[in-house]
Amino acid sequence: MKIYVCENYDAMSAQAAELFSTQIKEKPDSVLGLATGSSPIGLYKALVKKYENKEISFAKIKTVNLDEYCGLTADNDQSYAYFMNQNLFSHVDIDKANTNLPDGTNPDAEAECARYDALIASLGGIDIQLLGIGVNGHIGFNEPSDTISLGTNHVALTQSTFEANARFFASIDDVPRYAYSMGCGSILNAKKIVLVANGKGKAEILEKAFFGPVTSQVPASLLRLVSDKVYIFADKEAGEIITKNHPEDVIVL
Ligand code: F6R
Repeated sequence: MKIYVCENYDAMSAQAAELFSTQIKEKPDSVLGLATGSSPIGLYKALVKKYENKEISFAKIKTVNLDEYCGLTADNDQSYAYFMNQNLFSHVDIDKANTNLPDGTNPDAEAECARYDALIASLGGIDIQLLGIGVNGHIGFNEPSDTISLGTNHVALTQSTFEANARFFASIDDVPRYAYSMGCGSILNAKKIVLVANGKGKAEILEKAFFGPVTSQVPASLLRLVSDKVYIFADKEAGEIITKNHPEDVIVL
């Protein structure tokens, strides 16, 4: 596992974007696993810039997102489908038919989870997966648990995730309680995994996940099972504790 601590959010985003643009150049029909949230916005901006500069094209790219809230339609401005259009898809030459998210409007959880797993399999798996990390260590919406969900699952968001996400909604009553999430098995099976984390709020969980015990109670710690293909990018604030306590394991850029 490579852990990079960058000067600030923009530097973190630019460094992590390099791995994605290299992947796209080397394999123009790559399957990108994508994430939403505040952490990857700068990375998407950096990729849009590279597209505008004609460095990369998304014409043959396929995407699978980590997750989607249950009950929100794609045109709801809080849905992850909407987020992806706003932050990436509408700004590049991607064929929207090649972009995929779990369907939050499908009330049949079993069928939706099976459909999404079959879709990921039909694409031949994920070439490079982007992740953020929750303050409780979740990846996708795989929350701390006694068990590990390998495939797509229907999850009840924990109180801490629910509260963390409330900042994006007009009222706490609007925050969905359930989501569909790609499973840990699909994430760990990706050929490369890139996690971005910024801000003070992520400093403790980075130490817990990458230097504490490997446990399903901290889902991001499971990335250490496949550490050879994992790249962590933190900004200075998120990286503060690990830089101080584990200087030999951190590359300060
Ligand atoms: C989003 C996702 C989540 C977020 C995590 C961090 O698709 O899967 O795991 O990556 O909640 O969110 P931010 O980046 O908003 O701190």
